[in-house]
Amino acid sequence: MQANITAVSKFVPNKIISNTEFEKTLDTSNEWIISRTGIEERRKLELGKASSYMAIKAIEKLFKNNSVNPNDIDMIIVSTITPDMIFPSTACLIQRHFKIDNCWGFDLSAACSGFLFGIETANNFIKSGKYNNIIVVGVDTMSSILDYEDRNTCVLFGDGAGAVLLQPSSSNGIIDCQLGIDGNGAEFLNMPGGGSLNRTTQNTVNQKMHFVKQNGAIVFKSAVKGMYEVTKIIMDRNNINNKNLKLFIAHQANKRIIDATAKKMNLKSEQVLININKYANTTAASIPIAISDAYQNNMLKIGDNLILTAFGAGFTWGSCLINWGINE
Ligand code: ACO
Repeated sequence: MQANITAVSKFVPNKIISNTEFEKTLDTSNEWIISRTGIEERRKLELGKASSYMAIKAIEKLFKNNSVNPNDIDMIIVSTITPDMIFPSTACLIQRHFKIDNCWGFDLSAACSGFLFGIETANNFIKSGKYNNIIVVGVDTMSSILDYEDRNTCVLFGDGAGAVLLQPSSSNGIIDCQLGIDGNGAEFLNMPGGGSLNRTTQNTVNQKMHFVKQNGAIVFKSAVKGMYEVTKIIMDRNNINNKNLKLFIAHQANKRIIDATAKKMNLKSEQVLININKYANTTAASIPIAISDAYQNNMLKIGDNLILTAFGAGFTWGSCLINWGINE
């Protein structure tokens, strides 16, 4: 038995921010952003709403398209680096909304790899035999931690949520995962304020410590190397090659990172899902949003081999092989 994805859904806010919007306030251009990242636009959540709102919207769609009821859920894992609050967990807020009687859950922090860390965690809980219906939701309100005066970071990210329902299956589902962390990457991508180290003061706010800080070039190189290496481990270990792989879904951080990784794997363009042009980097939501788009566009059939790969702050990384298990 392993965990099978039996339902998938996404939610993105209505408000679209195009690249040209940034031209009004920053020394940047639509051409630069498209050519260096592949991003054309991103979504932005309205003020007053938070990650739980988007997660709940995505999960509502899961229930709509499925016979499973909220009270069947025994666990909620929320992968996010932008919870509504440091505590209580976003998982608690979601449980409260759906009035789920007998479940538990928690928030999981692994940045762009968060969704993969979430499904590997859920997979092992399902394999234990104790749990039958687990929701994993990747959600991030990146607009809440971006410095809109910093062209190096603010153009790269967007807001959104993607959710899956995982249930036991003896035939389809999560076949293998390889995950990793290396804290030596911490200095290259982080948000220094808001935690117990740099306690919030007027000074930390003045210094913009509550926004994303990044060394883009180092993250870029590390992501290309890391994504390829971990994907190769999963492919070699499971006899997957460019002939029997149906779809490769990489974390949507930069189209050039995805293209470089896919090139090393000798994949054709139709084997590689790209939606970064529409949503930018939605961090933990990026992979489940992409799975939802692939499913909606009938790109997957039962039994297809799907590989999910991510790299992100930490550094964190991972790759999972899925034997697709939902009919078109
Ligand atoms: N508009 C115009 N110029 C910009 C912009 C912008 N929005 N952002 C940066 N630049 C400038 C820099 O200031 C720098 O200028 P300088 O040379 O005068 O100092 C110059 O562009 C850098 O140019 P390049 O080296 O060509 O940029 P590069 O190809 O490295 O692309 C980018 C920059 C897009 C940030 C890239 O490094 C990147 O995508 N890195 C990965 C970052 C990422 O995806 N992080 C997300 C989280 S981690 C993850 O998800 C994997």
